[in-house]
Amino acid sequence: MAFTIAIDGPAAAGKGTISKAVAAHFGFAHLDTGLLYRAVGAKLLAGVDPIVAAQSLVPEDLEDPSLRTPDVAQAASKVAVIGEVRAALLDFQRAFARRAGGAVLDGRDIGTVICPRAEAKLFVTASAEVRADRRCKELIGRGIEADFDTVLADVKARDARDMERSEAPLKPAQGAVLIDTSELDIDAAIAAAIAAIEARKGA
Ligand code: DC
Repeated sequence: MAFTIAIDGPAAAGKGTISKAVAAHFGFAHLDTGLLYRAVGAKLLAGVDPIVAAQSLVPEDLEDPSLRTPDVAQAASKVAVIGEVRAALLDFQRAFARRAGGAVLDGRDIGTVICPRAEAKLFVTASAEVRADRRCKELIGRGIEADFDTVLADVKARDARDMERSEAPLKPAQGAVLIDTSELDIDAAIAAAIAAIEARKGA
């Protein structure tokens, strides 16, 4: 039976880690929808028209390791304001969401636009400073140079672009359970997410 879990929130709030753990816990498939926008952003940086790139995206494009770099993240949030780009990525996400056996999708507009009828919706957030600190450590851990002030400015710029755009802006969906991870370690955040979803499953 299809059961969709929509997990939205700003950059580096812990959505990715929580989504993977939730998918493993329930035995559901997981789609990081940010990768779709990152793949289109990477093509833009390579000189391809972003609308054409979105319309011709293939699953192998999502496996490119360079999608995790800060430059691609910024390009992703720029192509994400384009309505035609978002429209081209809609069907793939909706089909994934309704697959038999259950699905977890994480992004910015899953509970608001892609799957407004998702059986469970979460909005995962944390302060910009906490998110910048986590992103800095993650980048340094991957051998990428990072300094806190630059990363904080990047996080804030991306927040502003994601929240203020007219197409599918980032905001909590109606009925979403809010999880603020500023003061939670990762195990506590995962436990809170699973508890919120269990409550929906039982409802
Ligand atoms: O989650 P992420 O950092 O990989 O996302 C990269 C960018 O893609 C983000 O800044 C905004 C955009 N995005 C979006 O607009 N809608 C989604 N569902 C997922 C990501």
